[in-house]
Amino acid sequence: METLLTHSASEAAALIRKGGVVAFPTETVYGLGANVFDVQAIKEIFRAKRRPTDNPLIAHIGEMGQIELLASEISAEAHMFMHEFFPGPLTIVLNKNEKVPMAATADLNSIGIRMPRNELAQEFLKACGTPVVAPSANLSGRPSPTTWQAVYEDLKGRIDCILQGDPTEIGLESTVIDCTSRHPVVLRLGAISLEQLRKVVPMTRASDDTATDRPRSPGLKHRHYSPAARVVIAVSDIKPEPEKKAAYIGVDAPIHRFAEVLTLSDVDAYAHSVFEFFRQCDRNEIQIIYCESVPETGIGAALMDRLRRAAEAS
Ligand code: TXA
Ligand code: MG
Repeated sequence: METLLTHSASEAAALIRKGGVVAFPTETVYGLGANVFDVQAIKEIFRAKRRPTDNPLIAHIGEMGQIELLASEISAEAHMFMHEFFPGPLTIVLNKNEKVPMAATADLNSIGIRMPRNELAQEFLKACGTPVVAPSANLSGRPSPTTWQAVYEDLKGRIDCILQGDPTEIGLESTVIDCTSRHPVVLRLGAISLEQLRKVVPMTRASDDTATDRPRSPGLKHRHYSPAARVVIAVSDIKPEPEKKAAYIGVDAPIHRFAEVLTLSDVDAYAHSVFEFFRQCDRNEIQIIYCESVPETGIGAALMDRLRRAAEAS
C-alpha cells in the first residue's frame, strides 16, 4: 500500500471517512487513527502495528458533544477532570455506550476518551466528524513516535496516510485515569501528574495493578517503549561497560566518555527527547543506553515509569 504524506488535515480526514487508517500528531505522541464505528478500519490498525488484540484503543474527540457517542454515563469526577484538563494530555476511561464496537475496546465494557489540544489534531478531528480511535503510531513494542519521520520509519507502506505535523510538544503518552468506579484510579502516568489530579479529586488513587492478577489497563502488561539496545537506569558518573557501544541521556553531563550523549536542560526536555533518542541509538547501532534517573515529581514520575519499562524489556 502507498502511504500518502500530507500537511492537509482535511485531506487526511477524508481518508478516515473513507475507512482508511491515518497517523496524526497530538501534543503527546503521534497516533494511528481510524473511525471508531468502522470495525474493518479498526482491524487494520491492529494489523499495521502488529498490536496484540487484547490491548484497547483510546478514542479521540474533536468536540465535547462527541463524548455522548462513546460513553454510557459520565461520573461527577469525570466531569471535573474534563472541565480542568480537556483539551489536553489526559485520557478518561468511562463505561462505554453499546454502539461502540468491541473491536475498539478489546472486549472491555469501558472506553478511554481523550481530547488532544494540539492544533493540527483538533483541525483533523473536527474534519473527521467522528471520534477517532488511535493507539500510538509505532510498531508494537517500539518507542512511541514523536515525529512524523518516526511514524514513517515504522509504518511506511502499512498505513494509508501520515498527517505531517511538528515534533510533539510533550513526548510521552497521555495520563490514563479510570473513572468507572467510585474512586478514580490512575492507570498510566503522563504529563498530568497524580498531584494535579488530586487537586481536582482528592480521592484519586495511584494504580494498584501489582496487587491484582489482571491488570486494569491491559496495554501495560505488554512489552513497551523499548529500543533494540539494552536500557539501564543510571547516575551521571556511571562508567560505561567496556567494549560495548554505549550512549547516555540525562540532565547532568556524564563524567565518562560515550559514543552518543544527549544532555538536556531540564526534565521536561528529557521527557520530550527520550523516545527519539532511543530511535537514534538504534539507527546508530548503540548496544547499551544509560538513562539518568530523575526525581519522581511532575513529569519526572511518568518519565521514570517509561524508563523502567524500557529497562525491564531489555
Ligand atoms: O497520548 C496518548 O495516549 C497516545 C495518543 C496517540 O493519544 N495514545 C496512546 O495509545 O498512547 P496506546 O494505545 O499506545 O496506549 C493506550 C493505553 C494502553 O495502555 C491501554 O491499555 C489503555 O490506554 N487503555 C485504553 N483503553 C482502556 C480501557 N478501556 N480501560 C483501561 N485501559 C485502557
Ligand atoms: Mg503505545
